[in-house]
Amino acid sequence: MAFVVTENCIRCKFTDCISNCPVDCFYEGPEFLVIDPDECIDCNVCAMDCPVDAIFQDKDLPEDQKDFIEINKQLSKVWPQAVPGVSTPLPDAEHWRNVSNKREILLKSVSGILKDELVE
Ligand code: SF4
Ligand code: F3S
Repeated sequence: MAFVVTENCIRCKFTDCISNCPVDCFYEGPEFLVIDPDECIDCNVCAMDCPVDAIFQDKDLPEDQKDFIEINKQLSKVWPQAVPGVSTPLPDAEHWRNVSNKREILLKSVSGILKDELVE
């Protein structure tokens, strides 16, 4: 099992989650962070640190967020590692924390990276 970053993170990227990860398994894109499921040790520290409750253990994911398992898996293999103290929240994070249905924004920006079935 692994923890998974979901839709609430998009365009916020508060980055509190990466500070205490014992295995540094977060990877960072321009508008979103993901967890590498092969590296995560299921410690639950990051989920408690996220101010917008964007992180869930895979078995506890809400039904409408389950596609983020595959999104985290794929993007973690191509994005660079997030670095505590270097990675910072996005400037409009406070605005975007109150916006729902942000998934399409992410899927458009990574359409050249993700496998086709996730961006249809
Ligand atoms: Fe890192 Fe633990 Fe979160 Fe996994 S659950 S991403 S190991 S802090
Ligand atoms: Fe995103 Fe929450 Fe981390 S908004 S960057 S999952 S602290």
